[in-house]
Amino acid sequence: MKVGVVVWAEGNIVKFRVAEGVRVERGQLLKVYDKEVKYILRVFDFRPESLLTPAEIARLSHKRERGEDVVLYDKSLRLYDTAIATIIAQIEEDAIVHGPTSVPSLFSNVETLDELDLEQLNLDNGDLVIGYVRIGHKATNVEIKLKGEKVFPHHILISGVTGAGKSNLGKVLAGAVMSVPEPKYSLVLFDTESEYFQGARPGLFGLVHLPEAEERLFYVSNIVSEPTKVEFRFTYKGVEIKRRIFVHPLEISYSKLYPLDFILTGEFTPPQEELLWLAWKTKRSDWLEFLTESTTSLIYRALSKMAHVNTINTTKRKLRHMLGSGEIFKKNDVETDLLQAIIGAVGRGKVVLVDMPHATEGEEKLLATAIARRIFKVYEEIRKNAPHEWEKLPYVMIMVEEAHKYLSKQSLTGISDVRENIFSIISKRGRKYKVSGLYITQMPGELIEPVIRQALTKIILSLPTRPDYQKIIEYSPYLDEASQELKALDKGEALVVSPVSGLRFAAPIKVFCFEDIIKEKLDEELAFKSVKVLDKKKYGKTFTTSHDT
Ligand SMILES: Nc1ncnc2c1ncn2[C@@H]1O[C@H](COP(=O)(O)OP(=O)(O)OP(=O)(O)O)[C@@H](O)[C@H]1O
Ligand SMILES: [Mg+2]
Repeated sequence: MKVGVVVWAEGNIVKFRVAEGVRVERGQLLKVYDKEVKYILRVFDFRPESLLTPAEIARLSHKRERGEDVVLYDKSLRLYDTAIATIIAQIEEDAIVHGPTSVPSLFSNVETLDELDLEQLNLDNGDLVIGYVRIGHKATNVEIKLKGEKVFPHHILISGVTGAGKSNLGKVLAGAVMSVPEPKYSLVLFDTESEYFQGARPGLFGLVHLPEAEERLFYVSNIVSEPTKVEFRFTYKGVEIKRRIFVHPLEISYSKLYPLDFILTGEFTPPQEELLWLAWKTKRSDWLEFLTESTTSLIYRALSKMAHVNTINTTKRKLRHMLGSGEIFKKNDVETDLLQAIIGAVGRGKVVLVDMPHATEGEEKLLATAIARRIFKVYEEIRKNAPHEWEKLPYVMIMVEEAHKYLSKQSLTGISDVRENIFSIISKRGRKYKVSGLYITQMPGELIEPVIRQALTKIILSLPTRPDYQKIIEYSPYLDEASQELKALDKGEALVVSPVSGLRFAAPIKVFCFEDIIKEKLDEELAFKSVKVLDKKKYGKTFTTSHDT
């Protein structure tokens, strides 16, 4: 459909006159054909074009104010709407999408995209499907699929204001990972709200409802006391459905923790770190109990006065804060080895979901650090010592909700030094080892720049505050003119920037609603079940018949 005519083109900006009666939306993708080249445009602003004199405007507005009719002769020649758009790509005869290197001629027609145009943009040739291409606020039928192999090693950043749809997107991504037939990717999720497994509220869905969960989900929770398969039942459209899911207890004994698990939270000063190492050298596997249970004076003496009393006191306090009250981290030995089990699951391409609704901030930080550190260490070692084995390992991505808590300037800077934590290390070095971060935050403005820059795939949901969207725009390609659009996104609407996935512009997307994915899958499952029941009946009948004869 024709929506306008080009009236100006300069640099990679095109201004076009909007056809009368047509509504063009901010963020909309459009096309212009000119001399065998198809230009793809993206609208970012509007401006009325007026040739009226100030005297005419004063006279006409005064008339309207008094309630009189305003008749403007030659209106369409003297007053019209224009839209301003960036050229995001040009497609030449070879049908390959290129960055723009020319502009369309004046008075070329501007048209809406059809499905063929969208297909040419190569938005759906990956293996991780996350939503539909969006035109304005309307979803099309064309899916957006990210290329997991390219996207996984380079980190993903998901940002959006509260309620914008970050957790929904997290579930959609987890579902996409589980749906890839080969166990090529693994994902580690930490859920402090208990919204991923069964959904945040009754009536909503979670990962357990996915048929693939039986094979691909590794659930860590305190609902069991030993690793085992648990049957979960739910009813959908009056039919009872069962899932047998592997569940591992959420418990780690002190003896499985090392100084680096604490140090790499980034919470300890150099003298405190030294104290941890000193305790480890002196007490080995009892080091943690020794530091948390013994009196300060006993520690002071046992370590030959090599640590300050003040340092001992603050370190004890920090350790206790992280270890919590014994819900997750247990003083006594436990029979399971959660950290080892997670490494195994990651190596088999599972989605590991650590459900910890009652964890304190300290426990969450320690657990996430201990898990991320082991994964990174194992992948690094295998890469160095057995590169062929490493080649076969799945890409692993570790989710960091509230990423600004781990990766802000403030969290990474001590009084006089820059303190690394495991996630800042992974964001810098993980790529080489197939280990990466899925950073989720409502405050991207707080993140340190390298994290924003190194997350080569960014999914930006609604972000109304300037410091947040500006920071993202500053460190991402293709977003120069997107500020107005980022402010105006609705729930589940986003812009996807992913040059690694072959997207050469910020793609407007409507993220799938996780509930809809589940309903579709469950409908398929029920249809399949009823076919099986029918088959059985048929088979049963034939069987009986054959017996009869
Ligand atoms: N793509 C979508 N389509 C339809 N509904 C959605 C979509 N994304 C999110 N929603 C709905 O919006 C609500 C908030 O979504 P969600 O919990 O994912 O937001 P959030 O960004 O994680 O918020 P918070 O910052 O509070 O954690 C939910 O009820 C969810 O069902
Ligand atoms: Mg959320």
